[in-house]
Amino acid sequence: MSLPYDKAIPSNTLLSVATDAARQAGAVLTECVRTGFRIEHKEIINLVTDADHQAEQRIIDVIHAAFPTHRVLAEERGLTKQSPSRYKWVIDPLDGTTNFAHRFPAYCVSIGVECDGRGIIGVVYDPTRDELFTAQIGHGAYLNGAPISVSTANHLDRALLVTGFAYDIRETQNNNLNHFVRFALKVQGLRRTGTAALDLCYVAAGRFDGFWEVTLNPWDMAAGVVILREAGGKVTDFKGAPHSIYGKELVASNGSIHQAMLDLLQEDATPS
Ligand code: IPD
Ligand code: CA
Ligand code: CA
Repeated sequence: MSLPYDKAIPSNTLLSVATDAARQAGAVLTECVRTGFRIEHKEIINLVTDADHQAEQRIIDVIHAAFPTHRVLAEERGLTKQSPSRYKWVIDPLDGTTNFAHRFPAYCVSIGVECDGRGIIGVVYDPTRDELFTAQIGHGAYLNGAPISVSTANHLDRALLVTGFAYDIRETQNNNLNHFVRFALKVQGLRRTGTAALDLCYVAAGRFDGFWEVTLNPWDMAAGVVILREAGGKVTDFKGAPHSIYGKELVASNGSIHQAMLDLLQEDATPS
């Protein structure tokens, strides 16, 4: 049910604010690379930099200038608005912080928008390549304005897959290493880029055929899953059940190799 002050907003208006915010945050990151930034340790291998905070602030400023009542869930700041708005923006201001801190050019800004709990907009911006991935529900997915779609690979022997590892890799047995070993022996190639939002976009664009990860957060996935679905891809949990960005598991693919990925993940399932 919509609230009196919280009128429905055309999705192309939301998309243009999300795009503006992502590009501005990308410029913040690029400037931080040029001028330098401080690194802090949240945990032993989990970093945060000035750039994460500055980019996040810029995104929130852009959103709240346009939509002061909207809720925002941002990685570094948590849930910033407790208003009963229908809209929630889910933000990773810098996905790929470890890469960024090492000046390895694989990182991005990720901004998703939910309306009534459903992901309707996804924007992911890679400032080092100037690649902007966008999608509005029902309108397809785009890379720098050109339509994108998933690959047609239909066998793991022909598939280039990607995965990632969470920061608790040393503390839990459910750390994805078992799946990694098993997939490595079944696929054409297996990569770990260190940026889940771009991994999803690369499946959407047909650069990868599939992606899985054991423990992700809503801000890693919110934009990318909208982009992937709009590009014709499939996303579920490890059992093939509907995906939620508030769950941890993610299996994303071109659709054709999805069942093969699920079968392999089930084969060596680790009790959590
Ligand atoms: C991380 C990256 C990485 C994934 C981790 C995420 P961050 O996000 O997306 O690829 O494997 O699970 O936490 O910390 O760079 O924003
Ligand atoms: Ca992230
Ligand atoms: Ca981040």
